[in-house]
Amino acid sequence: MSRIVQYSSYGGPEVLDIVEVDEPHAGHGQVRVAVRAAGLNAFDFKVRQDPQYVPSHSLPSKQGNEFAGVIDEIGDGVEGIEPGLEVLGWTSFGAQADYVVVPASHVAPKPAALDWATAGGIGLVGNTANRATIAVDPKPGDTVLVSAAAGGVGLFACQFAMLDGATVIGTASERHHDALRRMGIIPVTYGVGLVDRLRVAAPQGITAVIDNAGQESVEAAIELGVDPSRINSIVWAEGAERYGISTVGGGGKTAENLAQLAELVAEGRLVMPIAATYPLSEVRQAYEHLETRHLLGKVVLTVP
Ligand SMILES: NC(=O)c1ccc[n+]([C@@H]2O[C@H](COP(=O)([O-])OP(=O)(O)OC[C@H]3O[C@@H](n4cnc5c(N)ncnc54)[C@H](OP(=O)(O)O)[C@@H]3O)[C@@H](O)[C@H]2O)c1
Repeated sequence: MSRIVQYSSYGGPEVLDIVEVDEPHAGHGQVRVAVRAAGLNAFDFKVRQDPQYVPSHSLPSKQGNEFAGVIDEIGDGVEGIEPGLEVLGWTSFGAQADYVVVPASHVAPKPAALDWATAGGIGLVGNTANRATIAVDPKPGDTVLVSAAAGGVGLFACQFAMLDGATVIGTASERHHDALRRMGIIPVTYGVGLVDRLRVAAPQGITAVIDNAGQESVEAAIELGVDPSRINSIVWAEGAERYGISTVGGGGKTAENLAQLAELVAEGRLVMPIAATYPLSEVRQAYEHLETRHLLGKVVLTVP
């Protein structure tokens, strides 16, 4: 048998159950992964709380889109992958389980230096942050504003922009300012008065924005004269119509990109703090923690 996280009605973490199902098996072109860690994302609870968030979504639903684990079964037609290989990868609903079955093209080798929790938690935010950063094309000389800088997407976006040579200002609550400073990010508190604080933090002017929080930081950037073609938001889609900003988010995942991200983290060139880990059996508590929305980095389920 295999445990999966499942819900049969929309709602908060209380609707989540651990359900025993028959073990899945790898079919043609697929691999089975014995999961060791599975990351939590805001997407998971937005879908679970709002039946309209993904109109095609139906119940009962499994949960979780990213995982790390050990390949223990190989389907017909899969070459170049052996049982025992440690991987990280992605799926669509169902990563929070003892086993996942995915196309062989949805996994990348896990570098030995990467711990399980980190490997299971970097994929979705890393891909999103990478694409959002590319959308505004930071360069040396740029000052880039990153909102929700202490979140998973924000932390990676800050670091991608810094690797591109930009100066980075990140919005966060004060509890996270020291951590951001240690990473080379200039912290600024979000909320009322944001524009004035940004003027003080960046007297040279802000030239690009990677928004992960919504309207407030986009409006602030517009007020400060940032060119809308250099503003990207992954949460405020209305900004595209109102100001002509871009709204590039996740998607277009490839195993090659995931492998590159994993290597960068394993080498220490990118860092992703793990705010907390919970065993799979405590999935409700894990989401209660995540849904406070004020964490530094990622929450990850560990399996078994
Ligand atoms: N479009 C896409 O493809 C896509 C992909 C991935 C994520 N997303 C969305 O992007 C957002 C960020 O995701 P995430 O996983 O990085 O983290 P998250 O868990 O949604 O965000 C956590 C961070 O948000 C910050 N925050 C909370 N309220 C804020 C506010 N009013 N203004 C600015 N920051 C605030 C918190 O900072 P403090 O703790 O410092 O308060 C915390 O560090 C989520 O809404 C998620 O759904 C979209």
